[in-house]
Amino acid sequence: MGEGISNRDRLLRACRRQPVDRPPVWLMRQAGRYLEEYRQLRARASFLQLCQTPDLAVEVSLQPYRILDVDAVILFSDILIPVQAMGGVLLFTEHGPRITEPVRTMEQVEALAIPDPVESTPYVLETIRRLRRELQDGVPIIGFAGAPWTLATYLVEGGTSRHFAVVKSLAYSHPSLLHRLLGKLAQTITLFLQAQIEAGADVVQLFDTWAGELSADAYEEFALPYQRQIIESLPRERVPAILYINGCAHILEKMARSGADVLSIDWRLDLAEARRRVGDRLALQGNVDPGVLLGARERVEQVARETLSKGGGVGHILNLGHGILPQTPVENARALVDVAKRWTRDAESGNDVMSRT
Ligand code: CP3
Repeated sequence: MGEGISNRDRLLRACRRQPVDRPPVWLMRQAGRYLEEYRQLRARASFLQLCQTPDLAVEVSLQPYRILDVDAVILFSDILIPVQAMGGVLLFTEHGPRITEPVRTMEQVEALAIPDPVESTPYVLETIRRLRRELQDGVPIIGFAGAPWTLATYLVEGGTSRHFAVVKSLAYSHPSLLHRLLGKLAQTITLFLQAQIEAGADVVQLFDTWAGELSADAYEEFALPYQRQIIESLPRERVPAILYINGCAHILEKMARSGADVLSIDWRLDLAEARRRVGDRLALQGNVDPGVLLGARERVEQVARETLSKGGGVGHILNLGHGILPQTPVENARALVDVAKRWTRDAESGNDVMSRT
């Protein structure tokens, strides 16, 4: 493998567990407040304005590519954008997202629309089309959406939650109501991801961030079927799907039944153990603790090398185990990316990971 592999091929091949010259690397939430260039734009526009103005969303999407030289560009948007299009009233405050009228009754669930993304969120699709035109050098574009369970936690709780008390009380007292909501969210997200693929997304990531808050049984009841429904509707032979769950150690094997090509795992689970447990059927993404990027540069490099080594060089995308933290020094993010870039050289200087490919 080697000479002349394009960035697009590297990511697609890693998703499909085909040999690559080195593992690709990008960072969840790679665009955002830890970048001075983001803070400058953000001083002049609200977060929603950034998401809804293709000129600005394209610029913000490209910032981490230019500054860190990551191997993929993720669309700048938010998982709650389609929820707003369904009829949820969405605000972003300094404490995070708020849904001003939480959805808790069957009437409210029935009132939610299943929007046509071309009409309701044209700016998302236009951002992807413009990125496609800007990125002539074949850098892959990652589209994304939230999965039904995680979106339902925001819609029902009204914002970010600690114990998920309201959505769980609904799950265990009126499961049919919650299933109706999850079903509508699944239909919405299916259309939304299909439209992103049509607009030019090369890979899609489904964020079920809070599915790890469920017991293994409840995961099978309230999250897995909807993840599957969405993933099965996508043209995966062309566009691989990545599934992310924060806190997935207890449900990894079940997660592997979602149909996803890549499992994006958090840092609490050892990557080598995850590989043993899922075997070589699936690719893995992750899983550096975002907190490590707040530490010493040498430690960042050490953890990145260990993670690459556990990833085994094939079917691994180097990434964080959750989104990058706003306090992160840019040099540390860059150091993590650089370790993946130097991987072949590291391998030649005695680290035998690539020789296993
Ligand atoms: O990865 C990227 O660079 C693409 C953009 C992206 C954002 N949010 C931008 C954002 C992506 C992929 C997301 C996903 C997202 N959004 C998730 C799933 C992944 C995860 O981190 O768990 C969730 C749960 C959300 C909901 C959300 N949006 C929260 C909880 C918050 C507040 C917390 C925070 O970091 O401020 C947001 C706001 C948000 N989304 C910001 C950004 C850059 C900060 C907004 C600002 O500039 O004020």
